[in-house]
Amino acid sequence: MKQVTIIGTGYVGLVTGACLAEMGNQVTCLDVDDEKITQLNSGKVPFFEPGLEELVKRGRLAKRLCFTTSYEDALKGAELCFLALPTPSNEDGSCDYRYVFAAAQKLAKHIDDGVLIINKSTIPVGTTEKVRKKIREALADRAVEFDVVSNPEFLQEGSAIYNCMNPDRIILGVENPRSQKLLEQLYAPFIEKIQVMDIASAELAKYAANAMLATRLSFMNHLSGLCEKVGADIDQVRRAIGSDPRIGDKYLQPGIGFGGSCLPKDVDALCAIAQEHGHSSDFFRMILEVNEEQKRAFFEKIEGHFGDLSNLTFAIWGLSFKPNTDDLRQAPSLTLISMLREKGANLRLFDPIAIDQAKKQIENASELTFCVDEYDAAQGADAILLITEWPEFQSVDFQKIGSLVRNKVVFDGRNLYSSSELEQLGFEYYCIGKPAKQVLEWSI
Ligand code: UDX
Repeated sequence: MKQVTIIGTGYVGLVTGACLAEMGNQVTCLDVDDEKITQLNSGKVPFFEPGLEELVKRGRLAKRLCFTTSYEDALKGAELCFLALPTPSNEDGSCDYRYVFAAAQKLAKHIDDGVLIINKSTIPVGTTEKVRKKIREALADRAVEFDVVSNPEFLQEGSAIYNCMNPDRIILGVENPRSQKLLEQLYAPFIEKIQVMDIASAELAKYAANAMLATRLSFMNHLSGLCEKVGADIDQVRRAIGSDPRIGDKYLQPGIGFGGSCLPKDVDALCAIAQEHGHSSDFFRMILEVNEEQKRAFFEKIEGHFGDLSNLTFAIWGLSFKPNTDDLRQAPSLTLISMLREKGANLRLFDPIAIDQAKKQIENASELTFCVDEYDAAQGADAILLITEWPEFQSVDFQKIGSLVRNKVVFDGRNLYSSSELEQLGFEYYCIGKPAKQVLEWSI
């Protein structure tokens, strides 16, 4: 059992804290946001993540998990202190690590001798060293021994608890045997998953992993456009290439562009890291350009079908950047909504979880119509736009939808539906990476 402090109660911090408490450690989570801590102290999680609220409740009940805004209380007796702070983008795409530095400065006043500071935030190569320097400066003449290491987090929103309790790998950027031992004790249940490496490699590994995933997605999205032009079907091409074990079948699903808080931001930051070190960023930049192009291409399909969009009504199914989260950061829905609004279209929006977030985050949201379900959104619509593949959209009754809409047209941004089934019901159906109409010509 270790005494652990977590600074930052976002996705990474809260999930890590709740999981470490579940594993039997004594965990104190700190956040500077009063309201968030009050909410957590009353057992409420400020964002949607399956299973997290139950885990937080269990940790609190067992008195292994508590929340505070006080650095002094949070660090009393702590052996390990995780930094799980946001690292947003600066204007130029580079990583803004001011929250990490601010926390480093504050925690220095309260750490005990021998404490290990573990950075979980995604930070450019060299930042762990800078954090070490900041703490040393802030300690002034307090003689306290400490170490700073890198332990990047790889969890995915929507399955974060599972990822944390069943890690593929635990990356430890650590250059001191005592620190390595402490972390091996903390991560003892996953000892065979630990990979120890130098700090720079650990820091870069996180960007590399997200850029590799983004590369696969941009590759598939770009290829899907070519499929449409040559009359090929991306699903068949995907199956064919994914069954080669050297390629693998994960992260090959085309869509209307990737979103979320990590993939776009981290590729952007990787461009900045490359530039800063005099290395070409062209390859990384292209991943992001293809992603923007993918969103535009979807919009152009809609415009290509209707021409003038003014006063047409569109039902938007799904707002979050992917299912099982209420996160709208870099969600393709936002880009599409603003493109459609610019052309004077009326929008009827529905998402199973993210509507409250959407109301807060979309500009002039009061001008939009938020609906209670997918059928409500379809009322009088000229087309259905499927943006996020929530499981409940899979089993929609299109016969009923047909009786609600003004025009039977579906634009499927996630290839969720079967073209033959929808066409049988009289819908015109557009999806990603397939020819608009499959015409089979047999010549004898
Ligand atoms: C990602 C990484 O997966 C995770 O390891 C890292 O720690 C943080 O960033 P997350 O942002 O939660 O996690 O989302 P992820 O599940 O990776 O999805 C990212 C985007 O890719 C979503 O917009 C999703 O819709 C899209 N995607 C994913 C596809 O378009 N096709 C796929 O086949 C897979």
